[in-house]
Amino acid sequence: MSASVIDKATRLKLAIQKSGRLTDHSTDLLMRCGLKFSRGKDQLVGFGENMPLDLLFVRDDDIPDLVEEDVCDLGLVGLNVIEEKRLEMAARGHATRFEVLRSLDFGRCRLSIAVPDDAAWTGPESLRGKRVATTYPFLLGNYLRTHGIDAEVVTLSGAVEIAPRLGRADAICDLVSTGSTLIANRLREVETVLQSNAVLVRTPLELPADKMAWVERLLMRIDGVQQVRESKYIMLHAPRSALPAIRKLLPGSESPTIIPLEGNPDKVAVHAVCRENVFWETLESLKAAGASALLVLPVEKMLA
Ligand code: PRP
Ligand code: ZN
Repeated sequence: MSASVIDKATRLKLAIQKSGRLTDHSTDLLMRCGLKFSRGKDQLVGFGENMPLDLLFVRDDDIPDLVEEDVCDLGLVGLNVIEEKRLEMAARGHATRFEVLRSLDFGRCRLSIAVPDDAAWTGPESLRGKRVATTYPFLLGNYLRTHGIDAEVVTLSGAVEIAPRLGRADAICDLVSTGSTLIANRLREVETVLQSNAVLVRTPLELPADKMAWVERLLMRIDGVQQVRESKYIMLHAPRSALPAIRKLLPGSESPTIIPLEGNPDKVAVHAVCRENVFWETLESLKAAGASALLVLPVEKMLA
């Protein structure tokens, strides 16, 4: 048996974006999940050193196909790319065969319609008979159909934001994250077509048990990582009498640990994990309720 046959059977392949808005967040998430990988300069593959999981660095638009065609078991990609692919497949009479396993807490952006700053806009009907440039022809087509608008979809492979200035389109349908690209090109966002964030997708094919076990472990770790990003560990001192009020103020916490304070029977220490961010306002309310010696710490790892 050749090495590649063995690899295909035992090592998970995860496709991630080669360079772009998701790349750093994707590798960061995987490293927080404990993955150590080595990757030669300009290499397409990152080899997982401590997990049977290899990374394939590819163009984000290629990720759905790689997962669908079973070249990769998993893919980390924007929902915008996945939804565009789904519609494209449907238009060809095929059902998509990948499954979204997790919605992730990064890569937030939206696919929006934008028009030149000085163009009038009274709603989707303003697009009637107009040309709209996009790299997402299926999502845009779907949006236009939903609103009963007849408009020309101008499919481009990139640089959509300059199409109106070049006279190639009257409006665009493109991804917006900070909005700075639109401002720089004197365009204004008028409608959201799709809200997007990064997602983890898997092949529809059944995976061998040992591979599946690693998928499950990875999912559990991803959940842990996403949970701690929001979580804080809070410690404070409080008079026993203030406990009911204080417990009500602790954001998203389960039963806190109450510890008696040596030589001070009326006071206790309260330790709690808060599954939401703890803001200054909360600390101020806790203090007003009688708490003192407040301390908020980040949580490093969590396993339920
Ligand atoms: C998108 C989009 C804009 C830019 C908007 O491209 O096409 O150029 O991001 O971001 P902003 O609102 O923060 O200025 P992206 O980098 O995702 O490249 P891709 O579409 O080729 O994947
Ligand atoms: Zn892309």
